[in-house]
Amino acid sequence: MGKRAFRASILHFLSDPGCPADSARFGYFPDGLLLTDGGLVTAVGDASDLLPGLGNDRQLTDYSGKLILPGFVDCHVHYPQIDIIASYGEQLLQWLERYAFPAEMRFADPAHAADAAAFFLDELLRNGTTTALVLATVHPQSVDAFFSAAAARQLRMIAGKALMDRHAPAALTDTPERGYADSKALIRRWAGVGRLDYAITPRYAPTSSAEQLARAGQLAREVPEAYVHTHVSENREELAWVARLFPEHPSYLEVYAHYGLLGERTILAHCLHLNDAERRRIAAAGAATAFCPTSNLFLGSGLFDLAASDRAGVHVGLATDVGAGTSLSMLRTLHAAYQVLQLRGQALCPLRAFYLATRGGARALRLEHRIGSFAPGNEADFVVLDPRATPLMARRMAAARQLEERLFVWLTLGDDRAVAATHVLGEPLYRR
Ligand code: GUN
Ligand code: ZN
Repeated sequence: MGKRAFRASILHFLSDPGCPADSARFGYFPDGLLLTDGGLVTAVGDASDLLPGLGNDRQLTDYSGKLILPGFVDCHVHYPQIDIIASYGEQLLQWLERYAFPAEMRFADPAHAADAAAFFLDELLRNGTTTALVLATVHPQSVDAFFSAAAARQLRMIAGKALMDRHAPAALTDTPERGYADSKALIRRWAGVGRLDYAITPRYAPTSSAEQLARAGQLAREVPEAYVHTHVSENREELAWVARLFPEHPSYLEVYAHYGLLGERTILAHCLHLNDAERRRIAAAGAATAFCPTSNLFLGSGLFDLAASDRAGVHVGLATDVGAGTSLSMLRTLHAAYQVLQLRGQALCPLRAFYLATRGGARALRLEHRIGSFAPGNEADFVVLDPRATPLMARRMAAARQLEERLFVWLTLGDDRAVAATHVLGEPLYRR
């Protein structure tokens, strides 16, 4: 991990560029150079400015003709569901019973968990994703397997054991006390080790008793640096169920807030059927929403309202939510996001789309001082996109000169084939 230089077109975001994009909020270098030392960014700029000052102690990788972006950030994904992606039919509650829960039971076996974790992380890298917020299963060994595999690849990852003590098969339930103790032991073992962080993970309100949510909130108070990761307001049947299970609380969101689970480090997947007061509540807490467009379409859950989230000031990250999501590719996910917002009559311009997939995700995860842009000192995780990944893409790109047009072609036609390479701390962990 010595001194390295990478030459390509380079794009990164300093903050949310909005739509139409504000050019002061991103840096674009058509013939750019990214300099790293010890896996960290030291500089980014025009090759013509930076090349003359380069010493000869630096290894130069030439990606000319391609685009370097900060590694994609997937703000919500279930690694144990990799084996049930593309399972036919059903909406959320039936899908969980029929596909997700049986798949998750297999993670009692550490060998199965290790195999799935390695496969999952290599798939993320093939798709240019370098950081994710990940649900494991109820089994602590599923978290050990995941973090071991992430540490072996030096990836920045956040994960946690699912807390679930009711409304699930017995083989998938813990208890308030055991869930608390297991989570605490996992935090001691893994949080802050290398690039790993822990997320306290009550799966969602229907599978946790009030006692369990209270214990999760207690843990969040005891370990304020831990994340809180859960699902909220995804499916109408789920909403009605939560209203029956927690009649004393005014809303689904307020169940989490009541138990001390709505704070600055909380990530809420979906947030589809909220009102503006609820969105403002999320924003005021400093929590973030994970927008999961392929999952929301696949399960028929609903259309996310990005404009309303923007108006309320909510931080939004983009997420695949595999296995209900249909791809680990953040390009496919951006494409679905674009389509969802079209159905809502809302704009997702190309620059803001790529902001959401990189720096926006880092912001949602409160990691923007480490990843998501090429600010000096940030970790040099990046993806290299190929404009000629398929014959059709090559033909379409040949006519696309402007950056925004090229980004939109990647968004519309791209998938894992468009990822030429993925670097972690400067090192190539994947090359197509
Ligand atoms: N809500 C609770 N668990 C899940 C899950 O595994 N996937 C999705 N999409 N929603 C959930
Ligand atoms: Zn999910």
